[in-house]
This record gives sequence, C-alpha cells and structure tokens, in this order.
Amino acid sequence: MSRLATKVAIVTGAASGIGLGIAQLFIQEGAEVIFSDINKTGKATADAAGKKAVFIECDISNTESVKNLVARTLEVFGTIDILINNAGILYQKPISETSDEEWNAVINTNLKGPFLLTREVLPIFEKHGKGKIVNIASIAGIIGYENLSAYCASKGGIIAMTRSLALEFAPKKINVNCICPGAIKTGMTKAIEENEMMLKQTLMSVPAGLMGDPIDIANAALYLASDESDYVTGSSIVVDGGWSVR
Ligand SMILES: NC(=O)c1ccc[n+]([C@@H]2O[C@H](COP(=O)([O-])OP(=O)(O)OC[C@H]3O[C@@H](n4cnc5c(N)ncnc54)[C@H](O)[C@@H]3O)[C@@H](O)[C@H]2O)c1
Repeated sequence: MSRLATKVAIVTGAASGIGLGIAQLFIQEGAEVIFSDINKTGKATADAAGKKAVFIECDISNTESVKNLVARTLEVFGTIDILINNAGILYQKPISETSDEEWNAVINTNLKGPFLLTREVLPIFEKHGKGKIVNIASIAGIIGYENLSAYCASKGGIIAMTRSLALEFAPKKINVNCICPGAIKTGMTKAIEENEMMLKQTLMSVPAGLMGDPIDIANAALYLASDESDYVTGSSIVVDGGWSVR
C-alpha cells in the first residue's frame, strides 16, 4: 500500500508507543518519516525502519530545539507535508500535590510543544498550498478524570487549539485535526496493565472490553494524514472502544 507515497512526515514522540506505531505505519505506506523524540533510543528504532526513516532528537517544549528539528528535516528530505504532534507526558496526582514544575512540564510538552511545531511548519505548508497537522489529544480532553488536572487541561487545550487553527487555515487547504485516544497499551499506561485492580476497572469502563493498541491510533492518523481526508478539518476522531460515550 502507498497511501502516503512522496509525502514527508514528522512524528514527535516516535521512540515508543503511539508515535512509534504511527511512524512505522507511515513508512509502510510509502512516506519518508522523521522519527523525532527527546529520547535518543528513537535512533535505533528509526535505523531499524529502513532508509526512509531518520531520527532527529528534539525536545518539543524548547523553541530552539523545534527550530532545529524543522531545519534538519528540510536538509534531510527537502520538504514537510505532514506534522504529527504526538509526544506527551502525564502526572497522575491530586492538584494539591502538583508542583509548579510538574504543571509546567505537562502544559509545555502537551500544549506548547504542538504550538511551537505548528508555528514552525505552517509557512512551509502555506508555500505548498497544502498540509496536514494531526494532534494526538485524549478523551481526557473531553471527559473528566480525577487527579489528572494538568493533563486534562492540556488535552482540552489542544482540542480547542485544533478547532481554532482549522478555521485559520482552511482557506489555505491546510487541514488540522486531532485524535482522542482512550486507553491504549503503551509505556504511559503500563501501570494500569500491571495492576490487576486498575486493569479490571479500566476494562469495565470500556464498552469494547479491551485496551487498544498503537495501530488503532495509527490507522486514524493515516486517514487524517492522507489525501482521503482533504475535506476534514477541525474534527476530533475519538478512538476509545466507546469509553467516552457511556
Ligand atoms: N496511551 C494512552 O492510553 C493514551 C491515551 C490518550 C492519549 N495519549 C497520548 O498519546 C501520545 C503518545 O503517548 P504514548 O501513550 O505513546 O506514551 P509513551 O510514553 O509511550 O510515548 C511518549 C513519547 O513522547 C516522548 N516525549 C516526552 N516528552 C517529550 C518532549 N518534551 N519532546 C519530545 N518527545 C517527548 C517520550 O520520550 C516518548 O517516547 C501522548 O500525547 C499521550 O498523551 C495516550
């Protein structure tokens, strides 16, 4: 299959989990992909994915690091067609125990990071008269979860930012959408999988009765990154086994 033939994509947080699943699927679909991550282990993963995969280290919360990522991508592949804002972090704790540093880290990674990268790639998309931005939000941006205030705020924020950017750039044929995953098996949810009680509670919340895999999110990202979604912008695709419709 080659639904992304000739396309160049940046995927943040591609060293593991959902980002890795997206980056690997995009390679299979013919894209050239920058596997970007703050974690250098992403280099080995990109090397294993073949010649169309290149690792570039980036801390998405840092303006200079983001500028370097975009400049290096242009050096390596000459252009950018798709931006997947996936990297994210989470602290699960009551607000009274949340430090300024933890609050800032969550907002700076999950919300400011996508802002910085979007600002950096938009001039390239505007020049092309086309471009795809896919933000990985969460159902935590739609429904409430206790002890997750910073994370929920960041994910609600990115859903709202997606809608605003979609309006700003629809006339320029630049699509901005987001995906809201439910419980997906990655490093972020390992604690759930390893705790029988937490796993049981989670599975009881999911009408489908199971956790999702990164490929479930990657398939939605593939649609939103491909030409098939040219008339879709400002939307949030929920991929959660029905959790949020209860
Ligand atoms: N796993 C789930 O159930 C779930 C549910 C809803 C939303 N999400 C979202 O999906 C995205 C991916 O999460 P995941 O589950 O794959 O987690 P993960 O921890 O497996 O992967 C996150 C990746 O982001 C990278 N990262 C963290 N901070 C970074 C930074 N400042 N700059 C660059 N890279 C950074 C990490 O090194 C890691 O490789 C996140 O935005 C997360 O909020 C996950």
